Amino acid sequence: MLDILILAAGKGTRMKSDLPKVLQPIAGKPMLRHVLDTALELKPTNIGLIVGHGAEQVGQKVADVKLTLVQQADQLGTGHAVLQALPVLTKDTVVLILYGDVPLIKPETLKTLIASTSQHSLGLLTVNLQDPRGYGRIVRDSHGDVLNITEQKDATAEQLKITEVNTGIMAVTSTLLSRWLPKLTNNNAQKEYYLTDIIAMAKADQVKVTATQPASEYEVMGINDRLQQSQLERIYQAAIAAKLMSEGLSLIDPNRFDCRGTLRAGRDCIVDINCIFEGEVTLGKGVCIGANCIIKNSEISDNTVIAANSILEGAKIAENCVVGPFARIRPGTHLMRQAKIGNFVETKQATVGIGSKINHLSYVGDAVLGSHVNVGAGTITCNYDGANKSQTTVADNVFVGSNCALVAPVSIESDATIGAGSVITRSVKAGQLSVSRGRQTNIDGWTRPTKNP
Ligand code: UD1
Ligand code: CA
Repeated sequence: MLDILILAAGKGTRMKSDLPKVLQPIAGKPMLRHVLDTALELKPTNIGLIVGHGAEQVGQKVADVKLTLVQQADQLGTGHAVLQALPVLTKDTVVLILYGDVPLIKPETLKTLIASTSQHSLGLLTVNLQDPRGYGRIVRDSHGDVLNITEQKDATAEQLKITEVNTGIMAVTSTLLSRWLPKLTNNNAQKEYYLTDIIAMAKADQVKVTATQPASEYEVMGINDRLQQSQLERIYQAAIAAKLMSEGLSLIDPNRFDCRGTLRAGRDCIVDINCIFEGEVTLGKGVCIGANCIIKNSEISDNTVIAANSILEGAKIAENCVVGPFARIRPGTHLMRQAKIGNFVETKQATVGIGSKINHLSYVGDAVLGSHVNVGAGTITCNYDGANKSQTTVADNVFVGSNCALVAPVSIESDATIGAGSVITRSVKAGQLSVSRGRQTNIDGWTRPTKNP
């Protein structure tokens, strides 16, 4: 049995933000969400979230997770925070203490910590830091047993030399917490109720303190300011990039790659620099993504090329298509195989059939195009009359000349041809040529006007 407490009451003054610190994002996701997702992997009986600053906003953001909100109106210290949660803890359970601003802690590290915890042992996560400044120091006796944690501000010059520090993360039974927490005092440099003081109480009660370490230092790094936030963001992105590359994805520069969700890629895909993937993105085999693309919640099939500077959202793109450069593919776009979308083309709620082409400067929205349709440069589907959206249907083998306006609702049957510059308001039958524009007049011997003297 396991209960998890997440401390998230602090103000985060150094972020200089109206957003509560624990809601600041890492990889597009609030850092508290990262902690909750990790917590949920451990299948706890109970999650207690200790909130104070921005409590309402924080509570709303995690309303979909089954947890107990614990109010800590005044932040009188980490020990005081956990004390507030005592009433919601399960009896005789292990309690894992996490922090809303330490987002990248891994489940494996926590499992080891929990395994070291019992009625006779407190699990403490420590780390050795080159620069231990600001952290609580792990004070050990001559046998190497942990005696206590001494905060930076309470430490002697000798203790300040200790490089093993407290990460804050620990696991201890609810029975022991109930025994120790009410005994905490704030007789220290910061006049705070230190959770860390329970370590000395454990020693006094012959409860062993078992210190374990995380596999990587970044797992226990906290975020206090925007610089640290950006540093953890890069560390996190580097880890995602490394994993994807180990699975066979080719990234031209993993330092210029961002994934804010889940990216899945088949064999031999290549992603050029400065691409951002958001939500759920799936790439088939041999997909090439050019530089500076943003791709959100989309599915792209085998051997398709997304050329540089294209923005895709909510798209389903079949195999052997070419999109971009500079394409804007909006939600509901479905390209069938070998379709081509060229530069400065916007699509929305549009199905584009096999081998059809919209190569330049067009808007195609609320439309279904058949196969082998050619849409000339500058063609617009006029799908909106100011009140309602209407549908455009273009059947197989239609040729639409340049600079046409297809005024929806309108339907163009197969093999029809639309002359350049036409405004099409009525449907066109199969095989017809439809032209709607002023007839060209050529006048011989035309004399240009001259400037008045
Ligand atoms: C704490 C530890 C220190 C450790 C360090 C690791 C104590 C006394 N010290 O110090 O040994 O090295 O973390 O980062 O525990 N919080 C609340 N309510 C409170 C106080 C804090 O929710 O009343 C939350 C904060 O929002 C923050 C976390 O607890 O997320 C840590 O609090 P903070 O005051 O920053 O502790 P440190 O001084 O960093
Ligand atoms: Ca801190």
